[in-house]
Parts: sequence; C-alpha cells; structure tokens
Amino acid sequence: MATATGPTLADIRDAQSRLDGVARVTPVFSSETLGRLCGRPVWLKAENLQRTGSFKIRGAFNRISTLSPAERAAGVVTASAGNHGQAVAWAAREAGVRATVFMPEDAPTAKIEATKSYGADVVLTGSGFDAAAAAVDERVEAGETLVHAFEDERVIAGQGTVGLELAEQLGADVATLVVPVGGGGLASGIALALDELRPGLRIVGVQAAACAPFAGSEPTGNTIADGIAVKQPGELTSALLAERLDGVVTVTDAEIAGAILLLNERCKLTVEGAGAASVAALVAGKAGGEGPACAVLSGGNIDASSLIEVLRHGLTRAGRYVVVRTRVTDRPGNLARLLALIAEERGNVLGVDHHREGMDLPVTGTEIELTLALRDEEHCAELLGRLAEEGYPVERLR
Ligand SMILES: Cc1ncc(COP(=O)(O)O)c(C=O)c1O
Repeated sequence: MATATGPTLADIRDAQSRLDGVARVTPVFSSETLGRLCGRPVWLKAENLQRTGSFKIRGAFNRISTLSPAERAAGVVTASAGNHGQAVAWAAREAGVRATVFMPEDAPTAKIEATKSYGADVVLTGSGFDAAAAAVDERVEAGETLVHAFEDERVIAGQGTVGLELAEQLGADVATLVVPVGGGGLASGIALALDELRPGLRIVGVQAAACAPFAGSEPTGNTIADGIAVKQPGELTSALLAERLDGVVTVTDAEIAGAILLLNERCKLTVEGAGAASVAALVAGKAGGEGPACAVLSGGNIDASSLIEVLRHGLTRAGRYVVVRTRVTDRPGNLARLLALIAEERGNVLGVDHHREGMDLPVTGTEIELTLALRDEEHCAELLGRLAEEGYPVERLR
C-alpha cells in the first residue's frame, strides 16, 4: 500500500472510507475571543469531541480493520500514555478483536478507567510512555500484533483523515495550521493529506517545552500535556515531519494551562493539555505566519481533578485568584472592617487565615492571609492600592 515515505493520499482516502460511520466528522468552530487575543481569525478543529475523546480512534481503527484473519485471532497489543490505549481498546471491541494495553503507572485515572471500560486488558508498567513500550515486546514475540501509537503507516493514514476533513472545512484564506506533536503520527498524517490538497498551507507542530525532541531539546521533566510527552519519536514520523512541517515550536505548561482555561470559559470546550497546546502556541504568538489560523484540539481527556488544578492555576495567573497578606491589631471589629473594605471594592473573599503563633508580630498584632476572587489584574491593583491607602501593610503572595 504505502511507499517508504509514508502512506499516500489514496491510502488516507481508503482509511476515510473504513472510518465512515465509525469516527465522527468533528466540527470546526471559530472563536471571536481567541481571534481578538491572537490578532488573527482563529478556527478550532474539535477532535476533543471525537469518540473516546481524541483523534486516536482514526489510526487505531484503520490499523485493526486491516488485520488478517490470523492476526485478528491472535489479538492486538499496544503501549500508550492514554488516548491511543483507549482508542485501541475501543476499535478492537468494534472489530471483535482481543486487546491488551500497557500503560504507565502515572497515566491519568480517567484514561485508565476508560480503557478498561472498552473491554481491554490494562497492564500498568513503570513511569512514562517508554517503559510501557518496552513491556509490549514480549507479547509481540508471542504472536500478538502491535498497534503502534504513531510509527505505523496505517495508523498515520488513519490520523491523516483529520487532514481530509480540514481540506473540506477550512476556507481558502486559512494560511496556518497548528498541530500538537507527540510521536508525530497525527502531524504526519495531516501533512501528507494536505500536501496535495492545500499546497501553500503552513503546518506548524507544537510540543510541550518540558519534552520537545522535535524542537531539538532534551526532556527536562513532567508536563500537563501528557499526551504529547513522547521522548523518543519514530524514525518514519521524524523523516516525514522533517520534510513537511514548517517548524516546531514549544509552549510552557503555564501557557497550556491558560489555553485550557480560555477554551473552557470562552469556547465551552473541555480540552486536555496536549490538545490545548496548539491554542497555547497561537495565543503566545509563537505559530508565526499571517492571516487566519486553525488549531487542532487533538483531545479532551482530562481528569476532573487535574482540570480543577489547571483552572485554579490559570485563574491565579490571570490575577483572578489572589492571595494577600496583611496585619491588623487583634481587636474586635478589625477583621470585619478589613472585610467590609474588600466588599466595597467588589472583591469576593474565598478564604481567611489568622496567623499569630510563631510570627514576628507586636503582642497585639495578628497576620491575616486572604484568598480573593477578583475580576482581573487591574481590579487586583485597585484593591491592593485601596488597602494600602487605608493603612494596611499588604503583600501579594500569589
Ligand atoms: C491529545 C493528544 N494530542 C496529540 C497527540 C500526539 O499525537 P502523535 O503521537 O501522533 O504525534 C496525542 C498522542 O497521544 C494525544 O493524545
């Protein structure tokens, strides 16, 4: 089917026929708020609304539906940081094939539970994607078929169907497409599909700064974009992307958290770290080019507890959650006066802590730490200014 340079446009079209009625044709939305923030019209390809919550079923189903009868009987196996595992479990169940998924012990709970719920045997191994990948080898030697997360032409062809949809959905004026890159299967498939269909389109890959081998850096630690934290990209995908991408940029976890918050609050879209990396790159002005841009939101599988953390972080960065420390004399009514002043300034008090013991304070003094919900940085500056004017010594902690 495919050449040594990856699947052809015809292979991707075949994958699209196989996926007809299986994968959703996901919508493309425009966002006025994002457009304003990025200084250019922005479109969002919402693969977070795909079945199983990410684009991954496209590649997994295309691979599994082309197995021989003997391969189907022996079952499939894969290693996955999460989304690919869910997709293989789901696609195998659809095709009536047994699946085993090796996952890192630190994979998000939502992804582990979802993979189990689709009927796969889930085996938790060490930490990170690479440990899970090593555990697969034994099963392959015993005769099971590996459904690789990215280094496989039929998987790449399946992911390429996102590109075929974009060719239909995007206006001719869209000049830049931003795609999250982990192992590189998604970006390779999209780039191959759009090579002929949109020859002038700039395609920019995005990686998390903490793990960005395609951007030429050494991994430095964990990231909230677990779906794209692949330390060892594929040979095939590396070769394909080296020729076809117009660049790979990196975004920090703080930028990704900001993008998750924006997508949640302004676009009503729940998007995981890896999926929001594309928007983070656009908002940070890192995607380059001019004119309308499209960001692929590649997945939406984020644990509720991680989402809460990320939103809290994003609100803090935006000056909307603030922690301030001040001091008052420990007399009845002093705390009430302080709180009344904050209420006058329309600050919402989320928490109050008194500290006396172990502090370097006058005998009659008490330290008060306030957690406040405010509108934005400007509101925060106004409130802190007013407190200072009224004689409170204020220190902003967060
Ligand atoms: C949400 C999400 N986005 C992007 C990617 C990156 O895909 P690829 O490994 O094909 O580059 C993944 C991979 O798991 C993912 O889960």
